[in-house]
Amino acid sequence: MKFFIDTANLNQIKEAQDLGVLDGVTTNPSLMAKEGITGADKILKHYVDICEAVEGDVSAEVIAVDFEGMIKEGEQLAALHPQIVVKIPMIKDGIKALKYFSDRNIKTNCTLIFSAGQALLAAKAGATYVSPFIGRLDDISTDGLSLINEIREIYDNYAFETEILAASIRHTMHIIDCAKIGADVMTGPLNAIMGLLNHPLTDSGLQKFLEDYKKGN
Ligand code: E4P
Repeated sequence: MKFFIDTANLNQIKEAQDLGVLDGVTTNPSLMAKEGITGADKILKHYVDICEAVEGDVSAEVIAVDFEGMIKEGEQLAALHPQIVVKIPMIKDGIKALKYFSDRNIKTNCTLIFSAGQALLAAKAGATYVSPFIGRLDDISTDGLSLINEIREIYDNYAFETEILAASIRHTMHIIDCAKIGADVMTGPLNAIMGLLNHPLTDSGLQKFLEDYKKGN
C-alpha cells in the first residue's frame, strides 16, 4: 500500500518524508488556501517546492471545469515537474480530459469520486488513480469503506490498472480498514499516519525493558 500525505503544509510533508514511508502527496485548492497559498503564481511555485521535498507522485488540481481549460491547465501543471500528477474532477469534461492525458502518458488522479459508477468511468478513461472520498461519505451517514470494497471488486473483475487512492481519510482506523480491503494507496493527514505508531503496550513494554536494563548497570 502506498502512503500519500494529504496536505499542502511543507513542514508536515517533510516530517512524513523523514519517516521514510512516504510515497507521494495530494493537495487540493482548499488545502492550499489553508496554508495561505493563494494566486496562480504562488500555487505553481508551491507545487514545485513540494515535488522537491518528496520522491513520489504529487497531485496538482486543475481549476477549470471545461475540457479546453482542463487540458491547458493540466499541461501547464504537468510541465512543472516530472512528479506532477494532474488532478481532474469527476465531471463529464473531466472524463474527456482523463482520456486525453492518458493517451499522452500523463498521469492523472480523478478526484471527488463518490460512487462505484464514477470509479468505473474514470478507469475506462484511463485514470492513473481514482480518489474515493471515504470521510465525506461517512460524514453523511454513508459507509465510505463499502465504496472502496465495491471499486476493488469491479477493478479486479476486469484487471483495470487504475489505482484506488482512498482519500478523505480522517483517522488511523480508516488506513487499516483500507489496507485490509486492498486499496492501492491511501492519502491522509499526518496525525492519521503517525497514529499507526501508537500502542500502550509498546510504551509500557519499552519502559520496563529500559528499567530492567538499568538494574544490571
Ligand atoms: C483528496 O485528494 C482530497 O485532498 C482529500 O482527501 C479530501 O479530504 P477531506 O474530505 O478531509 O477534505
